[in-house]
Amino acid sequence: MSALEVLSVVSEVYPLVKTGGLADVAGALPGALAQEGVTVRTLVPGYPAVKAALEKPKVVTKIGDLFGGPAKVLAGRAAGLDLFVIDAAHLYDRPGNPYHDGDGVDWPDNPFRFAALAKVAAQIGIEGAAGFRPQVVHTHDWQTGLTAAYLEYDGRKRPGTVATIHNLAFQGQYPKDLLPALHLPDHAWGVDGVEYYDTIGFLKAGLRMSDRVTTVSPTYAAEIRSGEGGMGLSGLLSGRAGVVSGILNGIDIDVWNPAIDPLIAAHFDAASPSSRRPNKTALQRRMGLRIDSKAMVFGVVSRLSWQKGLDMVLEGIETILASGGQLALLGSGDRDLVDGFRRAAAAHPGRVACVIGYDESLAHLVQAGADVLMVPSRFEPCGLTQLCALRYGAIPLVTRVGGLADTIIDANEMALDAGTGTGVVFTPPHVDMFRAAVQRAAALHEDQSIWRRLMKNAMRTDVSWARSASRYAALYRDLVAERGG
Ligand code: ADP
Ligand code: GLC
Repeated sequence: MSALEVLSVVSEVYPLVKTGGLADVAGALPGALAQEGVTVRTLVPGYPAVKAALEKPKVVTKIGDLFGGPAKVLAGRAAGLDLFVIDAAHLYDRPGNPYHDGDGVDWPDNPFRFAALAKVAAQIGIEGAAGFRPQVVHTHDWQTGLTAAYLEYDGRKRPGTVATIHNLAFQGQYPKDLLPALHLPDHAWGVDGVEYYDTIGFLKAGLRMSDRVTTVSPTYAAEIRSGEGGMGLSGLLSGRAGVVSGILNGIDIDVWNPAIDPLIAAHFDAASPSSRRPNKTALQRRMGLRIDSKAMVFGVVSRLSWQKGLDMVLEGIETILASGGQLALLGSGDRDLVDGFRRAAAAHPGRVACVIGYDESLAHLVQAGADVLMVPSRFEPCGLTQLCALRYGAIPLVTRVGGLADTIIDANEMALDAGTGTGVVFTPPHVDMFRAAVQRAAALHEDQSIWRRLMKNAMRTDVSWARSASRYAALYRDLVAERGG
């Protein structure tokens, strides 16, 4: 098989800049694809953290005016990744979150900051850079959606394009009068172009104009073709069903490896699940929960948003406590949820604990120390925390939606008989069903031999990128062959 070159275009990448699972995927997939004979270079904005991490940067292109100021494209390595970085101070030289200021207000020039990312991606796609000539340009989410449009309207021979949806809830819509300022031609304004409900739709453009569309689980690929799940794009996605597919995310099993993880209190693996125990004590201590090896610890590591369904946890908290359980929550996000969990922690000291914020090391300890990891999402394109939970033997308690449905096998009686259950799955996402799921988990936990079996099943699940990387590689090769090599 000949080597294939792919340019991945993305607005965040682990471990340099991360706000969610998108960064994890962008950081881990290139390494997994290398095993498949695919060479990936990743194009990212030059946020301060990215520029600081870049080893031996070389200037490969200079751009006189990139949406209001000069820019350079740098090439170099960082965190084991081959990167192209857009060095454009007027767009990216800002501290903190890549999308908004310290008060959570989106940067007003976001359409230009991410159009610039797409524009440079298209330029590298057509002209190459530093001897790298991608046969495929793979974009992720709305921030990179205009790439396919710039490639198409350029008119020159272009590489194949793949757009991956990580979350349809974020679509990047901007006023139509920005069309000329975004260097889009007049004829881009139309249903086959960037027009979307009378705005410029960045994600819509990517989904309409890319050769292939993927999303991060097969079930989500089906859900987004229905009215509600499609969030305004179901018509477009149904119309393009022939080129839409779902490829499950994996996790980086070197970053998430309980046998060597430096961020946890005691190492363990599927052959020695009982060595896991000191992590529970360490978690209880670190979070201020009562030290009690018998109490079932229900963990959460999540953005606190409507998507994640954590209002159900807040409302159903008494059921967790009634079964003798404890809640250990790590998260950040919506004000009302933050306030709610803080109040619950104050009302139940030693039994409910929350850490509000982003804490990579505590995330690992929750996975290693909790008995159950809850992801009761209303929708979930894939979800990564339930995959980490499988690997760390925290039994996932999840809703049957999107990637949760595709990755967790409900431990019902038949599944237990067949020796296949890995978690507790419930539907629909309603607090009554959540309460019943908590009770079911507690009942399973009472029989320690069943629980041990569940943990073993969970920990033996292959959550690596191997299978899915070969699916992406096959998709790229198929696309390249279709476009004439
Ligand atoms: P999403 O991208 O929708 O937020 P995912 O489950 O795909 O959900 O990915 C979330 C990623 O962010 C995981 O790697 C998870 O461990 C991490 N994460 C989420 N919240 C926190 C937090 N408060 N502290 C540390 N890591 C977090
Ligand atoms: C999004 C989704 C999440 C998915 C992640 C990575 O943030 O909400 O389900 O796992 O992207 O694909």
